[in-house]
Amino acid sequence: MIAVVAAVIASLVAVLIRWLPESASEEMDRITFVFWFATIICIGIFALVAAVIIEAVWAFRVQPDDDTDGPPIHGNTKLEIAWTVVPAILVIAIGVVSAVVLSKNANAGSDPLEVKVFAQQFAWKFEYPGKVQTEELVMPLHRSVEFEMQSADVIHSLWIPQMGQKQDVVPGITTKIVITPTRTGNFTLICTELCGLGHATMRAPVRVLEQAAFRRWLDEQRAADAGAGAAAGGAGGGQSGGGSSAGDAALGKTTFASAGCGGCHTFEPAGTDAQVGPDLDNLVADAKKAGDPEDQYIEQSIVDPDAVIVSGYQPGVMPTTFGKTLSPAELSGLVAFLSGKEAN
Ligand code: CUA
Repeated sequence: MIAVVAAVIASLVAVLIRWLPESASEEMDRITFVFWFATIICIGIFALVAAVIIEAVWAFRVQPDDDTDGPPIHGNTKLEIAWTVVPAILVIAIGVVSAVVLSKNANAGSDPLEVKVFAQQFAWKFEYPGKVQTEELVMPLHRSVEFEMQSADVIHSLWIPQMGQKQDVVPGITTKIVITPTRTGNFTLICTELCGLGHATMRAPVRVLEQAAFRRWLDEQRAADAGAGAAAGGAGGGQSGGGSSAGDAALGKTTFASAGCGGCHTFEPAGTDAQVGPDLDNLVADAKKAGDPEDQYIEQSIVDPDAVIVSGYQPGVMPTTFGKTLSPAELSGLVAFLSGKEAN
């Protein structure tokens, strides 16, 4: 009786509270199966243990003035074998099921879509075949996507809660993960490894599209990239001729987004309001305070962020890698955009 009551209570806690998000991938379906497989075993053991403890406390409690010792008992071989063998079988079963699911979840199949993932404090970038780079992760329905992940600085971790799979992104090595979406919709990719002050803001939008819609989207990205490439080439040419930084503010605007500046900084023209780093709407005043020409101050703050620290902020927070990861055209564009030169 006690075991049945305990099992019912534990089952209600398991079923009535939504412990896992609604699955949106084949991998999450399998992870959910492992979750319930282990949970059902746990409910059974919990019910048995609860029943034995409550029954023992109730039936064998001592009378108030009973100071005698209990009967001398020297073990029970059958019982001991049972409570060793049964849990061993259950734990091995959980291990086998988990191993099968892990290996299935790591299998990308014969025709995966390969997407490169670049993580850095505090932004995600994705690269599709044909060198198409985006800040939004778009995936085709029912096709396995294999992510090859690299980090520019510290350890990050890729996680889309509804898709279950989670994998660290570690500087110096390439890690992989497979996700096969099972429903269309909008999701959020979350960095789930504490990676610095902006960790909580390190997110990226995720969209799952029907396969035809996905192909259209990818073609559009390729076409847009071809156009932007030509524009960037033109700006670069002008720059090498002029010598000084006549950056392309429009390129700067897209760079601001792709480099993840908005993850930490408020900047009204970009519509961002994060407060990890200094408010970039005050750049002109900050440059004056530092006594530097504005453009030079901005470029230095991007490439060598610890050179001048705005009061109220700390050194060592902003990544020092932008001098390497941004192209010269992107850098001068960013300086133009931040100094308030026309962007559209
Ligand atoms: Cu990247 Cu947390």
